[in-house]
Amino acid sequence: MCGIVGYVGPRGATPILLDGLKKLEYRGYDSAGLAVHDGARVSIVRAVGKLANLEDAERRAPLAGSVGIGHTRWATHGRPNETNAHPHTVGGVSVVHNGIIENHLALRQRLEKDGVRFASDTDTEIVAHLVARGRAAGAATLLDAVRAALAELHGAYAIAVVEDASPDRLVVAKKASPLVLGLGDGETLAGSDIPALLAHTRRMVFLEDGDLAELSADGARIENAGQPVTRPTKHIDWSAVMAERGGFKHFMLKEIHEQPRVIEDTLRGRIDLVAGDVVPDEIGVTPEVARAIGRVYLVACGTSAHAALAGRYWIEQLARVPAFVELGSEVRYREPVFTRDDLVIAVSQSGETADTLAAVKTAKEAGARVLAVANVLDSAIPRAADGALYTHAGPEIGVASTKCFTAQLAALLLVAVYLGRRRGALGEGAARDLLQALVETPEKMRRVLSQAPYVFAIAKRLVQARHTLFLGRGLGFPIALEGALKLKEISYVHAEGYAAGEMKHGPIALIDAEMPVVVVCPRDAQFDKTFSNLQEVRAREGQVFAIATEGDTAIADAAQHLFLLPEARSEVLPLLTVLPLQLFAYYVADLKGTDVDQPRNLAKTVTVE
Ligand code: AGP
Repeated sequence: MCGIVGYVGPRGATPILLDGLKKLEYRGYDSAGLAVHDGARVSIVRAVGKLANLEDAERRAPLAGSVGIGHTRWATHGRPNETNAHPHTVGGVSVVHNGIIENHLALRQRLEKDGVRFASDTDTEIVAHLVARGRAAGAATLLDAVRAALAELHGAYAIAVVEDASPDRLVVAKKASPLVLGLGDGETLAGSDIPALLAHTRRMVFLEDGDLAELSADGARIENAGQPVTRPTKHIDWSAVMAERGGFKHFMLKEIHEQPRVIEDTLRGRIDLVAGDVVPDEIGVTPEVARAIGRVYLVACGTSAHAALAGRYWIEQLARVPAFVELGSEVRYREPVFTRDDLVIAVSQSGETADTLAAVKTAKEAGARVLAVANVLDSAIPRAADGALYTHAGPEIGVASTKCFTAQLAALLLVAVYLGRRRGALGEGAARDLLQALVETPEKMRRVLSQAPYVFAIAKRLVQARHTLFLGRGLGFPIALEGALKLKEISYVHAEGYAAGEMKHGPIALIDAEMPVVVVCPRDAQFDKTFSNLQEVRAREGQVFAIATEGDTAIADAAQHLFLLPEARSEVLPLLTVLPLQLFAYYVADLKGTDVDQPRNLAKTVTVE
């Protein structure tokens, strides 16, 4: 998730672009760059690291001119360095891009066969080559060349393009990644999100997928599928703070609602439904390695350990290889017996968690193969691993992890299918059906999130509880643990997650009218047993908040508080069952007035033991 900005008008572009990028820094900040047309040609400046480094670089080599584009990067392809920083310039054409070009390898190979030499490892540079070649081949305008280039791209993009030959305009395009236009007085702006534009105008146009627009000081000409289109101009009355949170009260709530798109971005380009298979990036687990694996250890901490627990179920069910979950802080001191036949999967949002990193190093020393599932490209854990499967969740600002957790679930389910297909444990048809269900899950997540007010009503009724118990079975058990962690870490209410089957072995003594019990009880293979546990709670005056499946009348009578999910295959249920628990924790915390985005005592990344 990167941030892009564009400006064309009578004022100096550079300060406007830099200010816009500052407002988009929450979207990514491992490198940044500007391209500004001074009336004769486009000049660029780029810098690795935070935006302040770009400002320093621009002060050393000032960019004059009133047409320009800018970019702040969250790397998905190509390490975070200056070479891979946007803009990418080819033959006088400069491009900034937010998104993922799925067919970038095929396009790069075709261009290289044509003699093109790439300067970077990014998918974005391909766009600059295609547009420049279009212009060199006779495209009458920059707009024509961009239109032709986009026709060759598959995937997601929001792009902005400037060129030497067009001193008074820029071109933008949108597909699956956000792009907003700002209509000022005698000036026109573009940005990935409202915050980048709000200081200059409140009149905004939200482009739609397939839109292509030529921006000049007089305004924007928009087309779609080669035909002129008009998009409504909206008046945005948000404050700057509200705008940065997308209109949500907290980053955490914004990130909870971003999850359907995050899952779409994490799955993008990695599923081949025709072959019924997973097409992972270079994850460092070849088919031969996949077939030779004796055991899988998933190592993680906190929320990532809960994702790892779900990953364990999937790997054993789908790949039929023994799988174990180890807490980073424990395994590093347990003198574990890793061997060369082990696959160690290190799950980490930040990729910098000290306990997990130490376990990875221990596994590497024992000759185990290590796969990192991480959200930050080129962070310490992926660098220490043999390969990485990155989640594409973008920066997670809320300290309590939400969108990165579900992105980890999606990535681990892909790994399980990949291993199952390589080991012959999962047939093509079964894999296709499962992957189809996974592809359909973001839409079901949207439906669940649209019911957030029902969770708010339940949170209001339970906000005074001083303790809460979360129960779940099978894939519901990691979700129960995660729901408990979310509640305790942001609302400071004591909460415990338990395997539902364990309740009769002790925790049932806790049950009384003062103890809300959240039961993850969707219509899955464990339903009957979990439902029995729910009834045991009710028989002891416990207050039950059940997460169930639409149409489940039995549970409707048994639970005092009920949230219903759409029908879904059991393997993808964790992506749905966790959503009401995230919302529940959020609403309870917000009602209690805690610092939801930065809860007391917590750090976003624990780089110490
Ligand atoms: C999640 O809500 C917590 N903030 C914390 O448990 C976190 O998951 C844990 O510290 C692991 O972080 P990582 O995923 O960056 O390794």
